[in-house]
Amino acid sequence: MPDTFRTIIEPFRIHSVEPIRITTVDERRAAVRAAGYNLFALHADDVIIDLLTDSGTGAMSRDQWAGIQRGDESYAGSPSWFAFLESVQALFPFRHVIPTHQGRAAEKILFSTIAGPGLAVPNNTHFDTTRANVEFTGAEAVDLVIPEGRQPSLEHPFKGNMDLDALERFIGERGREHIPVVFVTITNNSGGGQPVSLENLRGVRAICDRYEIPLFLDACRFAENAWFIHEREPGQAERPIPDIVREFASLADGMTMSAKKDGLANIGGWLAMNDDGLAERCRNLLILTEGFPTYGGLAGRDLEAIAQGLREVVEEDYLRYRIRSTAYLGDALHAAGVPVVRPIGGHAVYLDARALLPHIPPLAYPGQALAVALYEAGGIRGCEIGTVMFGRHPDGTEAPAAMDLVRLAIPRRTYTQSHVDYVIEVVRSVAARAAELRGYRIVEEPPALRHFTARFEPIPT
Ligand SMILES: Cc1ncc(COP(=O)(O)O)c(C=O)c1O
Repeated sequence: MPDTFRTIIEPFRIHSVEPIRITTVDERRAAVRAAGYNLFALHADDVIIDLLTDSGTGAMSRDQWAGIQRGDESYAGSPSWFAFLESVQALFPFRHVIPTHQGRAAEKILFSTIAGPGLAVPNNTHFDTTRANVEFTGAEAVDLVIPEGRQPSLEHPFKGNMDLDALERFIGERGREHIPVVFVTITNNSGGGQPVSLENLRGVRAICDRYEIPLFLDACRFAENAWFIHEREPGQAERPIPDIVREFASLADGMTMSAKKDGLANIGGWLAMNDDGLAERCRNLLILTEGFPTYGGLAGRDLEAIAQGLREVVEEDYLRYRIRSTAYLGDALHAAGVPVVRPIGGHAVYLDARALLPHIPPLAYPGQALAVALYEAGGIRGCEIGTVMFGRHPDGTEAPAAMDLVRLAIPRRTYTQSHVDYVIEVVRSVAARAAELRGYRIVEEPPALRHFTARFEPIPT
């Protein structure tokens, strides 16, 4: 009998459990007030469903925990390093792999080496730490995603694609000598977790070749991106996922990676490249800030967990479940009339707070208002991705971000369908009383990455 059942199940059983503390609305109101209405400042025990990020929050497998036991802590040349290197190069055959404690350390090392005042880095959309690391060197971070990628409700299979005409125009205007690297983020986190097609990456590669500019991937969610290609790009449906990933790698000169996403690990990352001279300069910085080149910022056991995670993340059963379970949440909210970024991305559902709360202007932070309301109502912690995160510019001015979203990021292999059904119920109930929500103002903020530590207060009616 053929396997024709439609229900896509979690391709795993639960092996150990973590308790969730169920709080009351009053407890949550008090907790968020004490946190200055910044959800990053909450005690995680006061959160019921934590969708703040999918970064480092996933559940590891039995075989990853076995790897943790096997971890070899030799300072130099540990077998765990070689296991890690083999796993990384099986998917990303770059000549140099430089382990770091997480993605932003790879970014910091790379941009400190190649960026600086007067230079600019184009990307489809910079993630916040990527932008901050580019700007910290004095360089400019420029987002050139296709126009469809900026319209939350528009359906398009590859909304993360780079706008090739805009990229070429930009290089022409600035001059190739002012552009040390072109970046492509897969999937495009800040643009809604939307994928980039192989065809588009080939187009970016051709432009980079024409102007002799290196092309790097921000590859945090490479396996999810490859799954979308497998499902949506003509001619790719029969191809094994690792093959698609390798083609992506072959089109690039290097990559930064946070293993906290598609490494299926709780910590880790790497920087990889083919250029020997650049690798040497990066390794010199690595030794200064992270550690010896065969462990970087990681313990041997972390290297083992990543090595195993990279084998599991490209399994089709896992990716089918992963992408479907994110779409399950997004499709239910869309069907209920809640504005969400369409189509549903790989790791998260993005609520369009600007559309849901048209009475709150961007500079009163509709995304923050919605995120706080979801926490107060149901103990759900999401993350504002909008004017709080991107509105403050290096020259001190403030302007609305392109979109005001609330990201509900789904940790990998962590929550069940009934947890997600609860989230759907809470979001629907908050959306039903959207007109009652009020905006916020910032009462304290640091000079960069303000969303992590800013304090807010509600604007009185
Ligand atoms: C697209 C993207 N790039 C870079 C990073 C930074 O990685 P990390 O948090 O490991 O420093 C993230 C983290 O969320 C990300 O989503």
